[in-house]
Amino acid sequence: MPCHRSALHAVLLIAAALTALAGPARAEDIPGRQLYVDHCASCHGVNLEGQPNWKVRLPTGRLPAPPHDSSGHTWHHSDRQLFRIVKDGPGAIMPGYQTDMPGFGAVMSDSEITAVLDYIKGTWPDRQREIQAAKSAADPG
Ligand code: HEC
Repeated sequence: MPCHRSALHAVLLIAAALTALAGPARAEDIPGRQLYVDHCASCHGVNLEGQPNWKVRLPTGRLPAPPHDSSGHTWHHSDRQLFRIVKDGPGAIMPGYQTDMPGFGAVMSDSEITAVLDYIKGTWPDRQREIQAAKSAADPG
């Protein structure tokens, strides 16, 4: 019955196409590493190393981008603070603060922000992860 077989074939093709579409198109499936490279690496460095002399203020009086690895202080913040810094900018937790760090709420979804932070956290050694997890537990929001 060639007729039935080609109908089945068409159904299988459509199913395969839908599966392909549903996969990488979903925001939560975009790996945090890729989101980091796309949105953060230009300032914080491809290897999370931050900008040179990141502890020294720029002529503008603002701070350069700090590293996100364990040599920086990203791990000093709770999950809730980190999410707000990335979504709304550091001014969200320090009103009036002058900074070169933009908020990403207009260009990244909440799940993308969580994914990029999970990527950053995944690069830390156990000690930093444990300290940061304790801070998050003490700051549920
Ligand atoms: C245009 C440059 C720029 C880009 C792009 C950028 N940042 Fe920043 N970021 C900064 C600067 C500068 C600071 C330091 C802010 C300050 O204290 O003034 C900072 C600070 C931060 C902090 C606070 C770190 C701490 O220890 O207090 C976090 C968290 C952060 N950025 C995450 C991100 C993430 C995640 C992305 C990508 C989604 C990103 N940043 C993209 C410039 C940038």
